[in-house]
Amino acid sequence: MDKQKISRETFMQLRDFIYEKSGIFFQENKIYLLEDRLSRRLQARNLSSYEEYLYFLRCDPDKDGELKELFNAITTNETSFFRDINQLDAFRTGIIPKVVEKKGNGQRTFRLWSAGCSTGEEPYTLSMITMDEWMHLNGWRVEILASDISEQVLASAKRATYGEYAVRNTNDGIVKKYFLEGSSGYVVKPEVRQAVRFVNINLLDMPQMKGIRGMDVIFCRNVLIYFDDNAKRKVIGHFYDALADGGFLVVGFSESLFNLTRAFKPVGINKCVIYQKI
Ligand SMILES: C[S@@+](CC[C@H](N)C(=O)[O-])C[C@H]1O[C@@H](n2cnc3c(N)ncnc32)[C@H](O)[C@@H]1O
Repeated sequence: MDKQKISRETFMQLRDFIYEKSGIFFQENKIYLLEDRLSRRLQARNLSSYEEYLYFLRCDPDKDGELKELFNAITTNETSFFRDINQLDAFRTGIIPKVVEKKGNGQRTFRLWSAGCSTGEEPYTLSMITMDEWMHLNGWRVEILASDISEQVLASAKRATYGEYAVRNTNDGIVKKYFLEGSSGYVVKPEVRQAVRFVNINLLDMPQMKGIRGMDVIFCRNVLIYFDDNAKRKVIGHFYDALADGGFLVVGFSESLFNLTRAFKPVGINKCVIYQKI
């Protein structure tokens, strides 16, 4: 079948649909990117135009099933273990001691959320770091919620098996300590995996977000870059509610909350800006 072209009008409608459902905003110069990402969905559903596809998303009895496939198709899932090491060192040397000091006399559960966790490298990295910090966290229970809108990446995350590319930023000592190396690749050890719970969550979904409370630290890195300011503000508001008092929000190295909220205080740790709930 010849590759179908997407008209400007249909692009606008699809883009509004996607934005409303996920917060992900395709600029007008991303028309070919969207066309490319959705062409396989047209084939899979045996549809001959993007207009038919839009109609399917709105009206077909299996529209909910297709929405999940749409999320799988449109999301950018680039990630790796130990990505942006300066931020992770800020977590290790600054955030963990502060949380331990604050909560030390109360309930000894350290609650982390990797929001937009993709194929799992980020939450497993956090689990490895907390295991390395046992001197601080001895006697603590570590719980890591790892969520993504794409079921496809979550299925991959649960397999916990990775290729060379995923560990390209990981030093050999860590690889030896926390992975089993076999013919299938690098498999994350069970003791690292046990702290991590994967859940399918859309950050724009109010009822789902309302169920998350009492987090000590939220990592939401390289996710908000795909949203417009309005969607960013909504998600940041949800994060505020999900954090415990004084909790920390870590956004991507190139991201900032500047002009989006005044409910967080920027704190400099290890040359990184981390946001603390006021
Ligand atoms: C580029 S990856 C970032 C992965 C990891 N946080 C990192 O920094 O390496 C962005 C992830 O955000 C997810 N995402 C995008 N929009 C989302 C939404 N509305 N709700 C939940 N996850 C979303 C995508 O599926 C994708 O896996």
